[in-house]
Amino acid sequence: MSRGRGIDGLSGTDKDKLLAGVRATRKAAKGRRPTELAAVRDAKRRTAFDFGELQPVRQMRMQRAAADLLGIENPYFRSHAGIAGNRTTIGNREYINFSSYDYLGLNGHPAVIDAAKSAIDQYGVSVSASRLVAGERPIHRDLERGLAEFLGVEDCVVMVSGHATNVTTIGHLLGPKDLVLYDALIHNSITEGARLSGATRRMFPHNDLDALEDMLTQMRDRAERVLIVVEGLYSMDGDMPDLPRLLSIKRRFDAWLMVDEAHSLGVLGATGRGLAEHWDVDPNEVEIWMGTLSKTLCGCGGYIAGSTTLIEYLKLSAPGFLYSVGMPGAVAAAAKVCLDLLEREPERVARIRENGHRFVARARERGLDIGPSAGYCVVPVIVGESVSAALLSQRLHDGGVNALPIIFPAVAERSARIRFFVTAAHTDEEIDTTVDLTAEALAEVRAAGSQLKKLVGDRVRS
Ligand SMILES: Cc1ncc(COP(=O)(O)O)c(C=O)c1O
Repeated sequence: MSRGRGIDGLSGTDKDKLLAGVRATRKAAKGRRPTELAAVRDAKRRTAFDFGELQPVRQMRMQRAAADLLGIENPYFRSHAGIAGNRTTIGNREYINFSSYDYLGLNGHPAVIDAAKSAIDQYGVSVSASRLVAGERPIHRDLERGLAEFLGVEDCVVMVSGHATNVTTIGHLLGPKDLVLYDALIHNSITEGARLSGATRRMFPHNDLDALEDMLTQMRDRAERVLIVVEGLYSMDGDMPDLPRLLSIKRRFDAWLMVDEAHSLGVLGATGRGLAEHWDVDPNEVEIWMGTLSKTLCGCGGYIAGSTTLIEYLKLSAPGFLYSVGMPGAVAAAAKVCLDLLEREPERVARIRENGHRFVARARERGLDIGPSAGYCVVPVIVGESVSAALLSQRLHDGGVNALPIIFPAVAERSARIRFFVTAAHTDEEIDTTVDLTAEALAEVRAAGSQLKKLVGDRVRS
């Protein structure tokens, strides 16, 4: 029997159908034994808790399957047999290596190894406590004072991870009433720190300081404190920001400036003192200098350098420092010797600059797209699609060069690339051979490109 439309908008017929459905479901459920119901519930739970059902995991597996189809080996997590400098051994083969952060070629230097070994003899392999309680060792302050002096600021604190240094420092200094503005190519550790702080976060287009000024004009008055974060030398594009202009902006808008020197310490400036030396500005004009020990200093960990007050505050309250174990003596001792070597041997800094410049000059000659790289330790060769970057990396590997692809989502799909880390240890011949091989291999990949797209399309459709 058909009835008129009810107040809930369903027609009488629809309501009858709905009720019948509900009754049928109840009856079916009643008919099921509790064990059957439990089995259904368990199956649902298993799916919900299966990591393999997570969307990013499925996406990763699809990418891997596509790469397998194309015969591309997994370039990640390859195991290296010894010290990975300008040369490295993978399996039983030696490669020219452009994937190491050992910018000044100090990993394995006899003085660095000796320092680490004698620190182990003296302190063991762990300091076994947070520095606040029982983990402090003299080598920690030696390294921190050495870094502060080298950088030309009042003090410094080292933490056990570069990534965690950024997360805890930004997460701790800023709060929900504040604003963090960072470059679009900033490292993940900065964005994670900003997220943790609860501050309003905004990204300005890469190195676009006009856009930064516009954002500050619109947003400054709504925030209590403002932090601007840039990198000394960008790890993806290998270029640097205009520090004098950033200083004038941050003064005008009453903001703090933080510079992450992971890739510029030991690289920029005539004596490797980084971005401030490169632009010839007083380092004390920047509130927060950050750097890692994992690149030029051949260790593991990060530092914050700046005013005595900032460092004291972080040492007494930043969770990632306070509630984390102190840096092992061997790591601190090795980093301190690397710092001494950097100071004593500025020719290493000159060499990395020459090498970086040589790489980009030759790459340009060969028609490669190196983006805005300034020709220091980071030189991208931008290829376009992720598949092409992965194929190019594989061809380089086959030809005896280890250089890894950076693909979507780490960079936009259109700007997938091979990233070359140039070091002071590379020889002219290694650079020339690598650039030439890259140009030849890229031409082959491009030639095969349209066929490849067709092949992928066909496989996906079938
Ligand atoms: C710009 C930048 N900041 C911070 C980090 C994190 O440093 P670490 O790898 O020493 O933890 C990296 C890592 O490569 C980086 O490139």
